[in-house]
Amino acid sequence: MNSTDLKIISKPENKSSKDKVSNSSINAKEKVLVTNVNGFDKLFKSGGIPKGNSVLVAGGPGTGKSILCRQICFNLVSKGKKCMYVSFEESKERIIKSMEDFGWNIRKYVDNGDLLIQKINPLDILRMKFGSIGGSGSATELSYKIKPLVIPKDFNPDLIAVDSLSAIIAASITKDKNYRVYLQQLFSFFEETQATSLLITETDPIPKRYSETGIEEFLADGIIVLYNLQKKDIRENAIEILKMRYGQHQKKIVLMEITDKGIKVFPDKRVTLE
Ligand SMILES: Nc1ncnc2c1ncn2[C@@H]1O[C@H](COP(=O)(O)OP(=O)(O)O)[C@@H](O)[C@H]1O
Ligand SMILES: [Mg+2]
Repeated sequence: MNSTDLKIISKPENKSSKDKVSNSSINAKEKVLVTNVNGFDKLFKSGGIPKGNSVLVAGGPGTGKSILCRQICFNLVSKGKKCMYVSFEESKERIIKSMEDFGWNIRKYVDNGDLLIQKINPLDILRMKFGSIGGSGSATELSYKIKPLVIPKDFNPDLIAVDSLSAIIAASITKDKNYRVYLQQLFSFFEETQATSLLITETDPIPKRYSETGIEEFLADGIIVLYNLQKKDIRENAIEILKMRYGQHQKKIVLMEITDKGIKVFPDKRVTLE
């Protein structure tokens, strides 16, 4: 790694929303995003995800990553908050339908603008990454260009979910330095928005690493891992908070259920990996 790399991947120092929060006298509840996903908030000592964190939601296929992010979005907009769901794979209509299948009446929040669902072609991001939409593709220009793409003016979401970071990589030919620059820009951007962000990454069923390149793990404030475990003749879903900056959390893998009403976490039911 040369000195340029170090500069690129170091975290910006000036504008952490968490610092601002910790300097004020507001109570712990206001520093966290309460998801109201049954049992999930109990995994955190302060009762939710520290506000402003960028969190990887990592796991193998079918482990509930998309459902968890959609459920959090629904719960938040039901409480008057604003969310943005960026999808690289599924259409807006499919996402709405999948949420309605859980009994979540989401359409009115899409219609009134509280939930913004954006389907983006990963190739559009890659075109920016390589700077082919005008300009040289330097880091500064990238950050300038990412903004209008990722978030509309005057929309200040409490939460941004990206489904998934892996899709960007799948569309990428090489995991080269451009990707690293792009990721760094993306994480800096999320931090600037002050939104809490959930970034889905596809991993092996029992992951040894939690993102494609390892850079994501390093940049993220938190990592939530979802599991789909074979236990004799049944499969069990489980969840673990592997890492979470700015907040204490349980350090064990616990049972999770995906039902036709959504996800339920059992913070006291420990699950072992084997
Ligand atoms: N109505 C439902 N009832 C119970 N389980 C469901 C239901 N809908 C989906 N699932 C489970 O959720 C899984 C898909 O979750 P999803 O969030 O799409 O996974 P991914 O981690 O790939 O994003 C399915 O494999 C299935 O086991
Ligand atoms: Mg998914």
